[in-house]
Amino acid sequence: MQCREPTPEELELYALAAGARPRAYVPYSQFAVGAALRTAEGLTVLGVNVENASYGMTVCAERVAAVRAVADGSRAFETIAVACPDHAVTATPCGACRQVLSEFGPEMTVVLRVDGNVVATTLPELLPGAFRLRE
Ligand code: THU
Repeated sequence: MQCREPTPEELELYALAAGARPRAYVPYSQFAVGAALRTAEGLTVLGVNVENASYGMTVCAERVAAVRAVADGSRAFETIAVACPDHAVTATPCGACRQVLSEFGPEMTVVLRVDGNVVATTLPELLPGAFRLRE
C-alpha cells in the first residue's frame, strides 16, 4: 500500500476519529472503531461501529459516517480518518466500506494506522477497480 505522512489537518481528523471511539457500541467484539469524514463542503461527520445481537446487522464506523454525511446533504467526500484500538497495529477499512465510500469519494484520502503509524493513503489504492454501474 502506497502511503505518505499525514498533513496536520489529516492528523486532526484522525484525532476526531479517535475521540469518537468511546461512543462505539461494541458489546460483542469490544473492538471500538471511530471514523471522521471530511466533505468537500467542509463538513466533518463522525461515525462509530454499531453492533447487533444479530451479528450480521453490525454497521462499521466508516459506513455510519458515510450515511450521516449524505443525510446531512453531502455527496462529495474528501478524507476519512479511521481509528481502531491500539492493539490493531494495522487496521484498514473493510471491503464493503471501501465500496460505499467510493460512491461519494472515488479519489478520497484515507487516514489510518499502518504498522503502528498514522499514515495517509487513497481509496483507489485500497480499492482498485471499484464497482461502477455506469461511468
Ligand atoms: N469494523 C469497523 O467498524 N470498521 C472496519 O473497517 C472493520 C470492522 C467493526 C465491525 C465490528 O463491530 C468490529 O469492527 C469487529 O469486526
